[in-house]
Amino acid sequence: MPSFLSIRLSEDAPKSTQALVLYADESRSLGPRGGAIWARTGLDLKKIANATGFNGRPGHMIDIPAPAGLDCERLVVFGRGADGEGDSEAAWTDRGGSLFAKLDSAGIHEAAIILDEPGLTPRLVAALAAGARLRSYRFEKHQTRKPNHKPLDLTLVTDAPRDIEPALHDALAVADGTILARDLVNEPANILGPQEIAAVAQGLSEIGVLVEILTEDDMARLGMGALLAVGQGSRRPPRLVVMQWRGGRKVEAPLAFVGKGIVFDTGGISIKGAANMEAMKGDMAGAAAVIGLMQALATRRAKINAVGVVALAENMPDGNAVRPGDILTAMSGETIEVISTDAEGRLVLADALCYTQDRFRPSVMVDLATLTGAMLVALGHDYAGLFTNTEALAAKFHEAGRISGEKVWHLPMGPAYDKLIESRFADIKNSGGRSGGAITAAQFLSHFVNDVPWAHLDIAGTGFGCASSETNASWGTGFGVALFYRLVRDNYES
Ligand code: BES
Ligand code: MN
Ligand code: ZN
Repeated sequence: MPSFLSIRLSEDAPKSTQALVLYADESRSLGPRGGAIWARTGLDLKKIANATGFNGRPGHMIDIPAPAGLDCERLVVFGRGADGEGDSEAAWTDRGGSLFAKLDSAGIHEAAIILDEPGLTPRLVAALAAGARLRSYRFEKHQTRKPNHKPLDLTLVTDAPRDIEPALHDALAVADGTILARDLVNEPANILGPQEIAAVAQGLSEIGVLVEILTEDDMARLGMGALLAVGQGSRRPPRLVVMQWRGGRKVEAPLAFVGKGIVFDTGGISIKGAANMEAMKGDMAGAAAVIGLMQALATRRAKINAVGVVALAENMPDGNAVRPGDILTAMSGETIEVISTDAEGRLVLADALCYTQDRFRPSVMVDLATLTGAMLVALGHDYAGLFTNTEALAAKFHEAGRISGEKVWHLPMGPAYDKLIESRFADIKNSGGRSGGAITAAQFLSHFVNDVPWAHLDIAGTGFGCASSETNASWGTGFGVALFYRLVRDNYES
């Protein structure tokens, strides 16, 4: 993966650099070190601010070419905004993203940022760096006439760089996990089938993740009739990948993360309309985030036990495809009537969830899936839907979402919704119709979860196709990696 950004920490501002960057707040004041640098130019900041309309808010900037008294081509002042919410990790991540975008579009390829605010913790400096890294991501590998981007060399100038290094390492590990997930989501299905994604996961063994890949034979032996049914219409066989990171105590039950990995969702025999079907190459965004998370946890050698399970299959119509009306037997023993072959995500997850809790007895199990169009209709692209059998988990997710900027909204579940998925012929059916579509999907999943604390995130709206943000200019978002990381770090890691 080409990197358009390199990041370094330094105690001193470089003697000479292309651009020097300072932050000013809403009172249009600089910090102590920034102020000293500015003073060397002999310019009047308030006067320039007035003349240019600079108000110190995020997005505002002053760009002075060839400043006297300094050995640089540009002196740039960014607005950092007011205190309060503006000091959160999410705010500094956004600031880093916007920093990269501004410098890049200004044609700057070498810059030193003076970070001299009192109260700027290592975590916030690291967040800024991670934001810049995230925004620098581009998916251009299939463009033979590539725009000629010059990479940006960023030096973060801070008082105690040594203290920041560990936080920086952690934050960049998470950003790189998000970027891996984006790469997987952006890549089309002809290039990434179930076996190819499994191979990417296998690659994590190099950083200490234990990886197993279950084939169709293994799944048949385990009785995974639901997962197998989804894959049976494709020339490319399904795979179930199990990734273990063992950084905690041997006896400690792991946290489990389960991802929907439909490499392409045509709908199967219940075929989708043609409009926008190309977006269904992203129907493995849940699996991608789980793989990205495992990479991040292993890279920073997290002191926990975690298992990532991804169910990989391609949902295609062909002579061997599963039909509406077919009755399947899931690994749990429950029978499922297929109403729509397009409700395939819940089928693969039924077996993946059952397998994960049976084998690992996790302390918490979380699944991530681009599960329903109804979720997109309900929450749009800004919040993921959260469903859980354990209220306390909802609060934890909510807080992790606030800090990471990957936000969730809690929706209801409950036995009342079971009525909608009762089958006339089997134990349960895989579609409850249009009303409460995201909820009945979650309710379906709950049938395959026993008494383990469990949460389900529907990322149909947040996994791909969102408007560009401060931290992402690409189609795939990598949603979930930063959220899960925060959840783990703040609640489960010692
Ligand atoms: N992968 C889709 C859901 C989806 C749609 C994700 C749009 C992202 C964007 C899922 O497999 C699906 O097709 N769900 C059906 C379920 C229905 C048949 C009960 C849906 O939402 O229409
Ligand atoms: Mn579908
Ligand atoms: Zn799907």
